[in-house]
Amino acid sequence: MRVCVIGTGYVGLVTGACLAHIGHDVICVDNNEEKVKIMKAGQSPIFEPGLSEIMQSAIQTGKIEFSTDLAAGVAHGEILFIAVGTPPLPTGESDTRYVEAVARGIGANLNGGYKVIVNKSTVPIGSGDWVRMIVLDGIAERQKNLVTAGGGVIEDKLPELPQFDVVSNPEFLREGSAVYDTFNPDRIVLGGNSPRAIAMMQELYAPIVERKFAENQSLHPVPILATDLSSAEMIKYAANAFLATKISFINEVANICDRVGADVTQVAKGIGLDSRIGNKFLQAGIGWGGSCFPKDVAALIHTADDYGYEAQLLKSAVSVNERQRLIALEKLQQVLKILKGKTVGLLGLTFKPDTDDLRDAPALNLIEQLNRLGAKVKAYDPIVSQTGMRHGLSGVLVETDAERLADGCDALVLVTEWQQFSSLDYAKMAQLMSNPVIIDGRNFLDPETLVRAGFQYVGVGR
Ligand code: UDX
Repeated sequence: MRVCVIGTGYVGLVTGACLAHIGHDVICVDNNEEKVKIMKAGQSPIFEPGLSEIMQSAIQTGKIEFSTDLAAGVAHGEILFIAVGTPPLPTGESDTRYVEAVARGIGANLNGGYKVIVNKSTVPIGSGDWVRMIVLDGIAERQKNLVTAGGGVIEDKLPELPQFDVVSNPEFLREGSAVYDTFNPDRIVLGGNSPRAIAMMQELYAPIVERKFAENQSLHPVPILATDLSSAEMIKYAANAFLATKISFINEVANICDRVGADVTQVAKGIGLDSRIGNKFLQAGIGWGGSCFPKDVAALIHTADDYGYEAQLLKSAVSVNERQRLIALEKLQQVLKILKGKTVGLLGLTFKPDTDDLRDAPALNLIEQLNRLGAKVKAYDPIVSQTGMRHGLSGVLVETDAERLADGCDALVLVTEWQQFSSLDYAKMAQLMSNPVIIDGRNFLDPETLVRAGFQYVGVGR
């Protein structure tokens, strides 16, 4: 099928590249010329395992193109994905101005046959109908321009009104495993009231549904849930809010474990074996961050507010998380007492491993607070140290390896559970430190190994 993806952030680029990989003809449109140039050369502007490989093979087979030309993209696609950002406003509301601009642009360029316009961006509930309205506005503006340009001659109007439907198709991919998640989804959600549009979306996803590109191809087909627009939009928010709440729940349990002397990793195992609870997203630590959970939970609270409902549970999940982000600071104070003049080394900076994303990373709060208390902060992160990327980072000295980081530190804090941190030479690092203390903010390391290496080990709820 012919596909146009507008917006090449995490969601758009991964979606475009994966759809090209399974055989569709894809044009990815972005208004950032520099970025388009990079992607044309087969390079991914984001760090995402496996992404540049599938981009390069799709470029070679001619299945994918990158362009800044929205009109050409719209003319090409039978399915048009809107995948631009919806960043949070200070109120917690989503900023939908980019979605609006793209929807208007699609309307202004629609012609020819029937098209399906897909909302892939996480948009406020009710946006499906709103996008339809904006597209119609775009079409009307274009008609008006044509008539004016033709001196009012009615024949210059669009020969026929473009036909289209809007579908909501929320994305559930995780950063760091986005390509894997696209080929191995738990479900595909399609919201809309047009059977024709839903049928086209089912055809688009057929190879994924049949698990032709899955790790385990013998599994049952991927379930497709077809709903109305608003329910599909709500599913995205509810899924992220549930997962964020689940993490805040285990973090609260961890804090109680710390006080009563229980081990939260054992407790998580014990409750996770109950199939009604499940064992995932029960890893206690320094809280959730990233581009989705904070933004989507805030947006859902805001939507509820708009309708006169106070989302108390969600607000609590957020406040537990805000407190949890500083749990490492509390533990540092318990061990070191005065932080002024001390040097603290952070192992990891990104909000989770296998990504270069620092958006809403707990490390940023920690750095800010340590600086406020007069501590010197150093950090080593496998990606940030390597790429020299410093977006949003200040008040921290970024070291090139873990041993340089340890040198002269009064304490280390493991902030991100990068796999390579499981096999560092901790004995050597302990010797380089003024005071070998480690706060394991992700309960990632084996306490006994660290104690053997000479560390005082402090976990979260264990
Ligand atoms: C999330 C959702 O998982 C995904 O479905 C959605 O499309 C986008 O948001 P992502 O933000 O990439 O994906 O990361 P995820 O792996 O879900 O982790 C989110 C945050 O929760 C991270 O900060 C992570 O460290 C934290 N986390 C996760 C925990 O603290 N404990 C856990 O058990 C799991």
